[in-house]
Amino acid sequence: MIPISRPTFGPDEEQAVVDVMRSGQFAQGERVLAFERAFAAATGARSAVATSSGTTALFLALLAHGVGPGDEVITSTLTFIATANAICQTGATPVFADVDDTLNMSVETVAPLIGPHTRVVVPVHLHGNPCDVAGLGELASRHGLAMVQDACQAVGADVAGRPLGAFGTAVYSFYATKNLTTGEGGMVTTNDPVVAALCAALRHQSYSCREYVHDRIGYNFRMTELQAAIGLVQLGKLQAITSRRRRVAFHYDGIVPQGRFARPGTRAGAGHVFHQYTLRLPVGCAPERDQVREALAGAGIATGVYYPVPVHRQPAYLRYAGSCCANAERASEDMLSIPVHHALTDAEVEAVARALAAL
Ligand SMILES: Cc1ncc(COP(=O)(O)O)c(C=O)c1O
Repeated sequence: MIPISRPTFGPDEEQAVVDVMRSGQFAQGERVLAFERAFAAATGARSAVATSSGTTALFLALLAHGVGPGDEVITSTLTFIATANAICQTGATPVFADVDDTLNMSVETVAPLIGPHTRVVVPVHLHGNPCDVAGLGELASRHGLAMVQDACQAVGADVAGRPLGAFGTAVYSFYATKNLTTGEGGMVTTNDPVVAALCAALRHQSYSCREYVHDRIGYNFRMTELQAAIGLVQLGKLQAITSRRRRVAFHYDGIVPQGRFARPGTRAGAGHVFHQYTLRLPVGCAPERDQVREALAGAGIATGVYYPVPVHRQPAYLRYAGSCCANAERASEDMLSIPVHHALTDAEVEAVARALAAL
């Protein structure tokens, strides 16, 4: 079976891990610092703070932007549950926005949800497809709100050549299946030195310049040197990883049977990084999705649905079930993703393409 993702490390990552093991320095140290600096530079941000996961990165970024009980945070309902969980863990209330044909929330879907308690807008770049981050940033600042991008699936993405970090605070995940992985891990990038300092302190038990003196309650969300060493090597490969994913996606674009499937929209200038390559069945054909998935499985090709239940319909978020997110609900029923990862061999890409053409 050709898997939907295949975490792959080479001799460089292996050597980096061995070097850390021999160094005797495992906890957050100089490699974490080096990874943060290199990551900030690569993503167009002033600074970066490494964390234990994308979820903890988002949680810290929200806290650093002042989010807490009584606040509302607007985010997309079509996301991994972690986005909403991190919002709830701050004590704030998530407000779920619908998506447009890019499968991301937009200025049009977010604007009507802004109210007196809104504090932050959290756009998600789903599947690595950049949302209207400039438009949403302008909307947020017009209302005196902050924007924290959930770029967990979008490392390396850009808009008209500007990396996402240039548009304001963003969070990334380095989970095993992500385009850049450290097994587990995350990063906050920001252009705001106060936000950076707060995230850095909070992830380390609210460490201050006075040793073992803490002025607020903090957390242990640190990254290890092992993760950072792998991350540094992976970062060096990111351009090649992104190019490979784009080439595979471009190849599929030319093969997907027209009329049989639609593709999510992309905004002008969006530098999609294809964390997923997603197909949609046309209106009215959603019930056929299982047959399509079975046909592909029969040809040895795994598929995934990201995500089959929008957050406002999740059992854990039942009190939001009345939210009006018709586009996200339709997408959750009619989309599927096929393997696009950078570890696919040319023969595997051809096998996927043949199976697609035969559908
Ligand atoms: C959109 C989105 N947000 C948040 C997360 C959470 O990241 P992590 O799994 O590293 O905590 C993920 C990763 O799975 C994600 O895809």
